[in-house]
Amino acid sequence: MFGGHMVGARRLGGAQARGRACSGGRSYTRPKPARMRLPMARCFVTRVLPGPALDRLRDRHEVDVWPDRLPPPYQELAARAAGVEGLLTTLTDRVDAALLEHCPDLRVISNYAVGYDNIDLHAAAGRGIVVGNTPDVLTEATADLTFALLLATARKLPEAIESVREGDWLTWEPGRYLGQAVAGATLGIVGLGRIGTAVAQRALGFEMTVLYTGGGQGSEAVRRVSFDTLLEESDFVTLHCPLTAATYHLFDADALRRMRSSAILINTARGPIIDQEALRDALLAGEIAGAALDVTEPEPLPPDDPLLSTPNLIVVPHIGSATRVAREDMADLAVENLLAGLDGRPLPHQVGVAV
Ligand code: DGY
Repeated sequence: MFGGHMVGARRLGGAQARGRACSGGRSYTRPKPARMRLPMARCFVTRVLPGPALDRLRDRHEVDVWPDRLPPPYQELAARAAGVEGLLTTLTDRVDAALLEHCPDLRVISNYAVGYDNIDLHAAAGRGIVVGNTPDVLTEATADLTFALLLATARKLPEAIESVREGDWLTWEPGRYLGQAVAGATLGIVGLGRIGTAVAQRALGFEMTVLYTGGGQGSEAVRRVSFDTLLEESDFVTLHCPLTAATYHLFDADALRRMRSSAILINTARGPIIDQEALRDALLAGEIAGAALDVTEPEPLPPDDPLLSTPNLIVVPHIGSATRVAREDMADLAVENLLAGLDGRPLPHQVGVAV
C-alpha cells in the first residue's frame, strides 16, 4: 500500500500535482481536503514564560497569560481557573481541592516545574484532570547549582567576596578564609533520582566518596546507606527528594545533631524538607559548619527572617533551573503537556496517583 501510494504520487505532474485537474478542456481548482481541526480550548497561564513556547499554545487555543512579575493571588487564580479547560501553573501556584471544586471544565494542569507538591494530585485525579510536569530538562542546571553552592560554602566565597568589597583584603594571609577540601570528601545524597544522580556524577569527578539514601537506583560507584549512616559519615549532605508528608522536616533538630560538626548541608529540593528554626540553632551552636539553601519555607523569605542573619549560611532565590536553555526547555515541555492533554493524547510527562 505504502509503495503503491508513492508510485501514484510520483505519476502526478504539473497542474495535477498542484491540485488542479482538467475536465473537457477547462481547468478547475480541486478543493483542498478539510483538515481535522480540534476545537479551541480556553487556557490560563499563570506567568509569562521565556522563549517562544507560549506562541505555539496561542496558535491552537485561546490563551490568557497573567502578565505580572508576582503570581496571581490565590483568589484570582481560582477565578481564572474556574473558566478554562487548560491551566499552566508554576510552583508558586497552589492548586488545591477547594480550587478544583470550582473548575467544572478543567481537563489538564501543566506544572512548569519538576516538583508538583503545589498541586493536590488526589483531588485532580478524582475529577479526571491530568497533571503534567517538566523533568529532565532542568536536571543538569539544578545539579550545577547544587555543586556551585557546595563549592561556595566549602570555600567561604560569600565571606571572601564581602571582605574584598569592604576593603579588608590587606594582603595574602596564610591563615585566613580557610575552607574545606572537596576532593576526597564524602557526599551524602538524599534521593538519588535524576538530579541526585547528576550531582553524584559531578561529585565522582571531584573524587568524592558518594553515599545515598532514599529513592533511586545506584551504581557500583555510589553506596546505598541508611539515613543515620549518611548523616554520620558525610562531609556534605545534599537534598534531592520530593517534598511529601514523609520528607517534611526530615532535617529536624535531631537529624542535624547527628551530622558531623564540620558538615555542610545543601538544599536545592524544597524548603520544608528542613526545619529552618532547627537549622538556625544548629548553625549557631556549631552542630554543623554551614548550609546553602536554594529553597526555603516560605518563599520568598522575608528580608528580616532571622535565618538571613545566621552565620555560615548562603540563601539564593530558588534558581536551581535558572539557565536560559533549561527555562525555555521547561516552557516547551509544559506547553507540549498542555497541548497533549487538551487533544486527549497522553502527556509527554504525566504525574499522578491511582484513584
Ligand atoms: C522544579 O522544577 O521543581 C524546581 O524547583 C524549579 O526549577
